[in-house]
Amino acid sequence: MSLNPKLADWQGQRVWLIGASSGIGEATARLLMQRGARVALTSRNQDALMLLAAGRAHVAPADVTDRASLKAAFDEVCAAFGGIDMAIVNAGTHQPVRAWELDAAVAEKLVQVNLVGAMNATALLAPYFAQRGSGRIAITASVAGYGGLPTGLVYGATKAALINFAETLYLDLAPRGVGVHLINPGFVRTPLTDLNDFRMPALIEAGEAAREILAGIEAGQFEIHFPRRFTRVLKALNLLPYRLYFPLVHRITGL
Ligand SMILES: NC(=O)c1ccc[n+]([C@@H]2O[C@H](COP(=O)([O-])OP(=O)(O)OC[C@H]3O[C@@H](n4cnc5c(N)ncnc54)[C@H](OP(=O)(O)O)[C@@H]3O)[C@@H](O)[C@H]2O)c1
Repeated sequence: MSLNPKLADWQGQRVWLIGASSGIGEATARLLMQRGARVALTSRNQDALMLLAAGRAHVAPADVTDRASLKAAFDEVCAAFGGIDMAIVNAGTHQPVRAWELDAAVAEKLVQVNLVGAMNATALLAPYFAQRGSGRIAITASVAGYGGLPTGLVYGATKAALINFAETLYLDLAPRGVGVHLINPGFVRTPLTDLNDFRMPALIEAGEAAREILAGIEAGQFEIHFPRRFTRVLKALNLLPYRLYFPLVHRITGL
């Protein structure tokens, strides 16, 4: 049984994609356009968004950490499309950091973009959809939020918080007819993971991630996690007691 309503057809769906200019967001935007959705693209880099849209999508630049700019983009998209059927809240940033390198300013930036940014967007979307009794919100977290991992000191904490946030959104919004999807990718080749200097297991391309995301939404899944050969191992690892989890993580990552 699916936890959200299924989606049979993307044709005409009005989708607001936040964090659309590169990587997973860009690939998802391309696929949505191919499938006939009406897509609105938001992130900071207007030139990249215009290039991606190529006249086939609406461009509404905004910074998720700037509530006024995000509200202006939301209003603009609602006006341009006459409403929104679904939002994919995907903006995020990453900086690998070990405990002995922790810098409070870097930590604050990651929390602002990844966590507060997603909450800023949801604060516009949740009341909007709840009032209509329809719509969907998809939040991109990460398998890095399942449990502590070396180099993910701050990034993983923001994603763990987003997982909890999406769970509670689901509890509140599903009974009101609003779908909530939690997207937990494994490693995907994008400008964000180009920062990693270690071998990334089960690395996939952004196009494959986009196909997984749309398939998960179509199937009405709450958690959309991929690639399964990797996410299943991580889920099992996180069921272990800490006395087994910590040494295994050291051994597997070599860190
Ligand atoms: N790649 C992976 O392996 C992986 C794995 C798990 C989860 N994720 C998550 O997937 C999402 C997309 O990441 P990606 O890998 O595709 O990285 P990416 O190519 O760096 O894309 C990040 C997107 O977020 C936007 N963004 C960043 N800061 C923003 C801000 N302040 N306001 C508005 N937009 C902002 C960027 O656009 P602008 O620069 O134009 O603003 C860009 O469109 C992130 O939430 C990331 O944490 C990625």
